[in-house]
Amino acid sequence: MNWDTEVFDLIDDEFDRQRLGIELIASENYASEQVMEAAGSVLTNKYAEGLPGKRYYGGCEVVDQIENLAIERLKALFNAEWANVQPHSGAQANAAVMLAVLKPGDTIMGFDLSHGGHLTHGSPVNFSGKIYNPVFYGVEEATGRINYDVVAATAEKYRPKLLICGASAYSRDWDYERFRAIADSVGALLLADISHPSGLIAKGMLNDPLPHCHIVTSTTHKTLRGPRGGIIMMGKDFENPWGITTPKGKVRMMSSLLDSGVFPGTQGGPLEHVIAAKAVAFGEALSDEYMEYVVQVVKNAKVMADEFVKRGYQVISGGTDNHLMLIDLRSKNITGKLAEQSLGKADITVNKNMVPFDDKSPFVTSGMRVGTAAITTRGVTEIHIPKIVELIDRVIEDPENETTLTSVREEVNALMGELPLFAAEPEPTEA
Ligand SMILES: Cc1ncc(COP(=O)(O)O)c(C=O)c1O
Repeated sequence: MNWDTEVFDLIDDEFDRQRLGIELIASENYASEQVMEAAGSVLTNKYAEGLPGKRYYGGCEVVDQIENLAIERLKALFNAEWANVQPHSGAQANAAVMLAVLKPGDTIMGFDLSHGGHLTHGSPVNFSGKIYNPVFYGVEEATGRINYDVVAATAEKYRPKLLICGASAYSRDWDYERFRAIADSVGALLLADISHPSGLIAKGMLNDPLPHCHIVTSTTHKTLRGPRGGIIMMGKDFENPWGITTPKGKVRMMSSLLDSGVFPGTQGGPLEHVIAAKAVAFGEALSDEYMEYVVQVVKNAKVMADEFVKRGYQVISGGTDNHLMLIDLRSKNITGKLAEQSLGKADITVNKNMVPFDDKSPFVTSGMRVGTAAITTRGVTEIHIPKIVELIDRVIEDPENETTLTSVREEVNALMGELPLFAAEPEPTEA
């Protein structure tokens, strides 16, 4: 069979785009070569419905070992008592949890999407908002932060069955202990979706949800720097049965409900090639090198927020505790949409984002979200950040000037050309 140059030439183009641009999308990262090698391995050929040791297919002796390794490494990384590494994505992990612990029509309470929450926490266009009854809490306009008294009052009013903490664009840490007290006060289960900051949490850079939240979900491809995928974990509540009685009178453990929420509830065969890549990434995240990485991610984000503030940008909540920040661009008279487009032409990738109390639609938006997880993997340190913010500012101040965009792009390509994506990077191709 002929090598498919049509597809592989496009993959080469994408490699160049990733290599030469400044990647500031807060949910992206660069997985290592060994993570990608595992994800592209022969394991893609294997069906393995079920769990290690309890499969519906033969020939699973090797994938059982791989999946067990992924589970054990993940448990060690987060000090978790139980984990399922099969969810194909963060959305799938949340779907599996909700299927496991809720009934259609049950009330769920999550962080408002327009304040930085995620679609799977109750958006009307998502399964979570269609199947369940969503209510929301958000941030205060004056502070850009969550007011926990308001969360408590909202929970008391709606008495949700599931309370969700976690977001896609909230730059502050979460008080999981307070959330647990609120959940307990209304008899709700507490889910922390740590998809964004999971890598920082694993290394102790942020508060730990495992001791407080009944269930924790995450993606594996953001700060955790693994392959695209999802995970579900539990900490100390592992042994508590959730009181669901089967027709034969047996009380099901929460772990068993969650396993069934993944398979057969919401997925078929697990992606064992991706699970192997997750195992590799968890092994990397257990290392001291990864600890240095997350320290640098947070340092870069703090310096970046300060640089934006110095240049007159309004960073929501005034700064960041994690790897990302949300910037209200209204003071710069530019929409999120135009900022994303113009920065893209200069090879700086960001995403437009609603800001809390936005007066524009999600297709236009007043803000942009930026994060430091990916650039830090490239070797960017706090030394580079003022220059990067200056390059962004030049585009935002003059977003439709082709001469500005070209000169910024040249500087971006020169800067990133000096920071190899992989150890043995090929010679740059002619532009
Ligand atoms: C908080 C949160 N949860 C879930 C997801 C969904 O992850 P995925 O895109 O892997 O389905 C995301 C992704 O952006 C997220 O930010």
